[in-house]
Amino acid sequence: MTKLDLEGVTVWRIGGDEYTREDLRKMDPVCLRALFRERIHHTVEVEIYPIMLGRKKMPENFGYQAELLIEVCNERGFNLEDDDFQWGLKYIELARRLRAGANIEIDDQLPVAFTDDEMKVVRKLLWARRSVRDWVPNRPIPDEIVEQLLEAGRAAPNGCNLDIVRFIVIKDKKRAKWVWSDIPTPMNQCVLIVICYDARVYETVGHDKLVSHNQGYDAAAAGDHMCLMAHALGLGAVWLTCTEKTAANFQKKYGLPEYIKPAMHIAFGWTAIASIKSGRMPLKEMIIA
Ligand SMILES: Cc1cc2nc3c(=O)[nH]c(=O)nc-3n(C[C@H](O)[C@H](O)[C@H](O)COP(=O)(O)O)c2cc1C
Repeated sequence: MTKLDLEGVTVWRIGGDEYTREDLRKMDPVCLRALFRERIHHTVEVEIYPIMLGRKKMPENFGYQAELLIEVCNERGFNLEDDDFQWGLKYIELARRLRAGANIEIDDQLPVAFTDDEMKVVRKLLWARRSVRDWVPNRPIPDEIVEQLLEAGRAAPNGCNLDIVRFIVIKDKKRAKWVWSDIPTPMNQCVLIVICYDARVYETVGHDKLVSHNQGYDAAAAGDHMCLMAHALGLGAVWLTCTEKTAANFQKKYGLPEYIKPAMHIAFGWTAIASIKSGRMPLKEMIIA
């Protein structure tokens, strides 16, 4: 592959300025990496399928912003073996082949509907999960289980693949006191996971003024995945509301940087008592149009 001339190529910031190679060289690494994912998403991933289906013409310099970003990320020593870079590199390669006039195919399968048995498991997960507020005392939650909960959060959808969600695992009494809750969360019964987001990323890509609320949605999507995983692992979990004031209090007491915003927290433990699963209003009442 001949080396691409990226002289003069800039990386767009949605609704704002453009970043030059020099800007990228100086950018905070967390923000640079997020910008890489966002640019892959918006300039290649979203564009490439309509192009492949013949519904859209390939834009001029298709994939160039991604090329510049991967060059700088490589230069700055990121581990390009990581999942997010590998994902981005697949798109970069596809864009290269399209630019070279090659026909491309995606080496993956179309989704197939689940079997009846698989659907039973899915329904069981969705409809049997419930909020649990009473946990068995002195039965620890192994680290491997905590990791599975966090991995479930990591798998959740997130706005523009920016990966802004951050986790804080709390197992000690002192820190647990900094997390406000309307129910007792004794540390000999549960683990608290505070779901935060890194607000610098939205400023970097220009989403802060456009879709700021998506930051909370990202945290919520991660939280929901974690609650479902907890249920599948036989744990009981409850999502706990965090007001702006209690979030600010936690942020200060924990000594978090200003840009790490606590969004919500969840308590996880081994269920102490069987509880009645909540009911929902009829679907027809929920469909308003
Ligand atoms: C945004 C949100 C905030 C919540 N906050 C609290 C809370 O502060 N305290 C609590 O005990 N439960 C809280 N819950 C759990 C709800 O009370 C619970 O999901 C609801 O009653 C339905 O019951 P289920 O989860 O058992 O299906 C919250 C749930 C959500 C989605």
